[in-house]
Amino acid sequence: MTATAHTPDTAHTPDIDELLTRTPTVRRRLDLSRPVSRPLLTQCLQLALHAPNGGNRQNWRFLVIDDPETKAGIARYYKAASDAYLSATSQAAMSDKAVAGVRYLADHLHEVPALVLACTRGRLPEDASLARQSGFFGAVYPALWSFMLAARSRGLGTALTTVHLAHEREVAALVGIPADEFTQVALVAVGHVTGGPGFRRTPRRPLDEVLSWNRWRS
Ligand SMILES: Cc1cc2nc3c(=O)[nH]c(=O)nc-3n(C[C@H](O)[C@H](O)[C@H](O)COP(=O)(O)O)c2cc1C
Repeated sequence: MTATAHTPDTAHTPDIDELLTRTPTVRRRLDLSRPVSRPLLTQCLQLALHAPNGGNRQNWRFLVIDDPETKAGIARYYKAASDAYLSATSQAAMSDKAVAGVRYLADHLHEVPALVLACTRGRLPEDASLARQSGFFGAVYPALWSFMLAARSRGLGTALTTVHLAHEREVAALVGIPADEFTQVALVAVGHVTGGPGFRRTPRRPLDEVLSWNRWRS
């Protein structure tokens, strides 16, 4: 199926500005009872491949996990890492609502219809330069965001996560990733959404607080 041949399964197709301002992390609104079709996932991934990436090397690899047993295995590591993360994070750093959302996803990850595990070729040496570090992971993130936007425009919700990377090696062994050759970058939970196609505007600090012109302003 080509990307243009697809008709979104909702009547609502967001315009670009709406996509950019209203694509939140979806955790509690993921529809855990409705499968996501492989053609829909591959269509979103096909679009994601057009994202910028270092030297156009396209070192990314995507592993889609929709097998219940494999999802359950990953979910166990995810839950352990998420619990450890939350107990190490100060209560002031996150609102109760945010904590509840993170916990919800950790508790239900095995039920999420599809997990997209993004990887990149190679491993970063401990002493890698800042430029190398930035390029290494940064070569995959634009594609992930494109994937999330493509998914959102087709009535899907996504949650980009990294917490399971505390158990990267165990997850690699579980799904057969040769961990000396490929590094995991992020895991994206994907599902249809409950409660209609609309989303709130993602809350962000005003631009003025984070923008300077010509000279750094603290
Ligand atoms: C690099 C990165 C890692 C993240 N890791 C996690 C994670 O492990 N678990 C989780 O529930 N959310 C994770 N998130 C989602 C953020 O918590 C979320 O984007 C942020 O709270 C802002 O909320 P919003 O996306 O709904 O606007 C991650 C986001 C990014 C960009």
